[in-house]
Amino acid sequence: MEFIKKEIKDGIGILTISRPQALNALNRQLLEEIGMAVKELEKESNLKVFILTGEGKAFVAGADIAAMSKYSQKEALEFSALGQDVFSSFENSRLVSIALINGFALGGGLELALGCDIRYASNKAKLGLPEVSLGLIPGFGGTQRLARMCGTGVASEWIFSGEMFSADQALQVGVVTKVSEPEDLLLEGMKLAMSIQSRGKEALASAKATIRGSLDITLDSGMEKERKAFSSLFETQESNEGMGAFLEKRKPNF
Ligand code: CAA
Repeated sequence: MEFIKKEIKDGIGILTISRPQALNALNRQLLEEIGMAVKELEKESNLKVFILTGEGKAFVAGADIAAMSKYSQKEALEFSALGQDVFSSFENSRLVSIALINGFALGGGLELALGCDIRYASNKAKLGLPEVSLGLIPGFGGTQRLARMCGTGVASEWIFSGEMFSADQALQVGVVTKVSEPEDLLLEGMKLAMSIQSRGKEALASAKATIRGSLDITLDSGMEKERKAFSSLFETQESNEGMGAFLEKRKPNF
């Protein structure tokens, strides 16, 4: 892979996007590499969580405008479908994904972060969906995910204005859940990842699928889904160990 650095550190998967000459802008190859890298991490049977971050001053500064400027409508449709599919594959993955937004997360870059389960940002990060300033709209899920995550008011403000927002503003509206000093970002992300990694693998995958599923269905069918997922975790080795360990006043061995 040319643009992705993949490592497993202290039992946590780390993917670093590295195309610094274009501020990590997403072209087809980079999108495909992100998809492949996540698939490879999924094969690590002990892994439960991975971190996604960017090298240099950007997380990702958006889709590659130089490449897009030459696209026909047909090519744009294929490009949009590729980005949507790759980011949706994070949602459908059993692995928990954490975006560490180290710098610019604009357009497709913010959409990439929105596809992750959790987002932390450096206080130097700038976030936004500036596509309207290019005569476009977000094409990798931004109109849908930001509206679902923060409501249509926030999505409308961010998308119609095309402005960049600070990490603190992103925190206020719930786009990110923690802001830290740049030098502490990886540490904070690793702390969270290690906490997640210490939990039950089946329980995490079940909780993730149930939370994600809640967006597309009524509260009643969501409750039914939760009941089924909750009860199916009983009488398993993992929950026997988890509840047994609590009752025996020891740490579970997952
Ligand atoms: N695509 C292609 N190249 C990009 C890029 C992008 N999205 N963002 C930055 N670059 C390139 C620049 O062209 C520049 O290349 P050269 O050195 O060869 O000129 C290099 O990265 C460094 O960028 P700047 O000199 O512009 O850096 P800066 O610090 O002055 O500005 C910035 C940083 C504010 C992020 C600015 O680069 C910028 O506005 N980038 C574009 C952001 C944007 O509009 N993103 C949305 C893209 S559309 C999209 O994502 C569609 C979708 O939803 C699918």
